[in-house]
Amino acid sequence: MSRPPQPEIEDKGSGPGDVGIVVHPRLSSGASATGRGAAARLDEAAGLSRAIGLNILHADVVPVPRPRPATLFGAGSVDRLGAVIAEANGTNEGHPLVAVIDSALTPVQQRNLEKAWHCKVIDRTGLILEIFGDRARTAEGRLQVELAALSYQRSRLVRSWTHLERQRGGFGFMGGPGEAQIETDRRLIDERMTRLKRQLAGVKRTRALHRQARRRVPYPVIALVGYTNAGKSTLFNRLTGASVLVRDQVFATLDPTMRRLDLPAGRRVILSDTVGFISDLPHELVEAFHATLEEVTEADVVVHVRDGAHPDWEAQKADVLTVLAEMGIEADGGRQIVEVVNKTDRLTVEARDALANQAARENAPVVPVSARTGDGCGRLLAVLEHALGAGWQEVAVVLGPEEGAKVAWLYGHGEVVSRTDQDDGVHMVVRLDAANAARFSRGAT
Ligand code: GTP
Repeated sequence: MSRPPQPEIEDKGSGPGDVGIVVHPRLSSGASATGRGAAARLDEAAGLSRAIGLNILHADVVPVPRPRPATLFGAGSVDRLGAVIAEANGTNEGHPLVAVIDSALTPVQQRNLEKAWHCKVIDRTGLILEIFGDRARTAEGRLQVELAALSYQRSRLVRSWTHLERQRGGFGFMGGPGEAQIETDRRLIDERMTRLKRQLAGVKRTRALHRQARRRVPYPVIALVGYTNAGKSTLFNRLTGASVLVRDQVFATLDPTMRRLDLPAGRRVILSDTVGFISDLPHELVEAFHATLEEVTEADVVVHVRDGAHPDWEAQKADVLTVLAEMGIEADGGRQIVEVVNKTDRLTVEARDALANQAARENAPVVPVSARTGDGCGRLLAVLEHALGAGWQEVAVVLGPEEGAKVAWLYGHGEVVSRTDQDDGVHMVVRLDAANAARFSRGAT
């Protein structure tokens, strides 16, 4: 069994000390048919595992020429991995050990592997559900993820390790209920799923909850999207620098993935980090993923962060653009999309020059940066400022005496060209950028 170098993914806040091994089964069909390399897939799985708080002790690609119904892997591989796990178990100082298998496992395969290895086993779907559970923010996103998690949990008939489990206390990886409890759980899950579906239908119909959440943010929003590990969080931290988490009253309900950012000319915006794209997303999670990303549809500018040093970067770009288009986010649909090519510090000088030339040539803004060194970030801020400022328009309004808050908002967000106070109200002509003009016209002030 080869031992590839540990993926270049840093620890993103480990959990309570749970440790894990990650295995990417290289099937002769399926995953490899997508054209993405097994090593890149292993890196991605290890990164996702770290994101749920696992300390990864070992990461491996294991060939699976013929998938076995009982264990997926052949007997030899099960034994070899068992030895790796036993060794890891000797060094984990009593912390629970989790084996992450980067593919779909049937419930039977999962149980058999757990028995053979004496540790918890989670598959790709379980892993991704964990991440989505942490990151879903809108009402619809949370409902979709919970529904997907429940449906998965029900199919397993064992105690789940989803975020739902954590809400009931404990990380949930180890231990489990008895058989009688499972029957009760199953009934409760069915009831809960019925309730969730009803709620979801309601939220979809009105989207009122979503709009309410949106109105709590009084500034334009710039959303970072892109593949997992592209460097969104690093860029987010780099751009917002020392700026503290936004904790004052207005933002009390926002989570740590939204921060205030003051652009060079003083324009205040909210920068939002989103859940990362994942290659070959299990089909039953597609809806949940879209719902988790839903906030992006309301962003004023979308920044597509790409890993310029990733071997699959072209395929990744196509995936991201396809999903954004499915969500109605397209550059030629009037939406500002800024493309950022990150990790330029890992590129050769020639590749960097080629990028810079391309950036100069293309109409759509392409900004090379290194979130790690900060190179290019000044230019990015200027491009963002420009994107937000594009399409200034003059708006003439008459506001009644009870609309003082709107008058104040216009002063705060636009350039007041003229104002006369008359009997029927305040007559104003205001210059607003495209984003703020849209916010004003949809009443999101
Ligand atoms: P998810 O949260 O999984 O969606 O990932 P992300 O896109 O937020 O990526 P993150 O910022 O966590 O970065 C992933 C890895 O890439 C980390 O190991 C970073 O240190 C590294 N990284 C990010 N930006 C750069 C960069 O400019 N240069 C280099 N060399 N590494 C970078």
